[in-house]
Amino acid sequence: MMVRRFMCGLFGLAITLLSGCRYADSTFNTHGPAAHNIANLAWFMTILFLIIIIVMWALLAVAFYKRRGTLAEHEPIDAGGGQMWIAVGGIAIPLIVLTILFVLGLGLLRDFPIHGVHGGMNQQQMAAMMKPEIRIIGHQWWWEIQYLNDDPSQSFTTANELHLPTGRPINVEVETADVMHSFWVPSLHGKVDLIPGQPNYIRIEASSPGEYKGQCAEYCGEQHAKMRILAIAQEPDEYDAWRQAQLKDSIEPSEPAAKAGQQVFISGPCSMCHTVRGTIAGGRVAPDLTHVGSRQMIAANVYRNNDAYLEAWITHAQSLKPGVKMPDMTQFNGVQLADLVAYLRQLQ
Ligand code: CUA
Repeated sequence: MMVRRFMCGLFGLAITLLSGCRYADSTFNTHGPAAHNIANLAWFMTILFLIIIIVMWALLAVAFYKRRGTLAEHEPIDAGGGQMWIAVGGIAIPLIVLTILFVLGLGLLRDFPIHGVHGGMNQQQMAAMMKPEIRIIGHQWWWEIQYLNDDPSQSFTTANELHLPTGRPINVEVETADVMHSFWVPSLHGKVDLIPGQPNYIRIEASSPGEYKGQCAEYCGEQHAKMRILAIAQEPDEYDAWRQAQLKDSIEPSEPAAKAGQQVFISGPCSMCHTVRGTIAGGRVAPDLTHVGSRQMIAANVYRNNDAYLEAWITHAQSLKPGVKMPDMTQFNGVQLADLVAYLRQLQ
């Protein structure tokens, strides 16, 4: 009884650990054609391998329990026989199974138009063919998201929240500003690596509105686990409304506290790293905060976007997410800190 409980506990623990990050959604919970194709192959493999395992264990059981007679009655061990089992079970079946999986896997590559797959295209040809609408740039440890347009006045940059319209494929370019990362929103698509010096492309389509959690899937340093992305798929008109709002410059504060906070922001160190469009704050190394108030989370989807966490983040980022480029701004406290947070919160 104790042993069984122990084994159950161990199994439960293994499932919890092996299921990886609690944050990202399941690969089997699909909301887009690419993710659907990947999940189908995963189900096919899982079921096929289960069948193979069951057959193998059954054969082992037969071999184990089969009456063989006594040792004296045995033929000499080199009498031969059973080669058919090796030829069929050890060579033919694995060859067939692996060939089928290889071909199905190759078919799935259509969902990953990565450099080289389309007849060895060069980067310029890939960029022209994929003509990205969105560029995602990985940073240690957050996501820069650029909405591109031929008309620069229709382009804007945001961070960590990837908004997508439903019902049509969106071409996305992924690159990195530093080390390798991997973009992964399991409900929408498979993993695509962000490789220094080589943009990659994926085509993402969300079939239904919703919020889909994603996670950097390539170890990229101390805070790799806290490099999360939230994909928000919206009906096209809702998406357009969001887009129009994001295109606008930041809201001019009207409340006294927020006004004072804006002064603190643009005259202090914040503006050296962060951009708030419509003000002189134009730093490019940290997330664009023009509409930070409209985002659900801060610190790459790790902490809720509220007064308490913003205050904690500004003054103790190194405790909340050790190693990030955001320093502990302990010089801000009391009214000044509250003003700063009031300013950020109203940047809707
Ligand atoms: Cu970025 Cu792991």
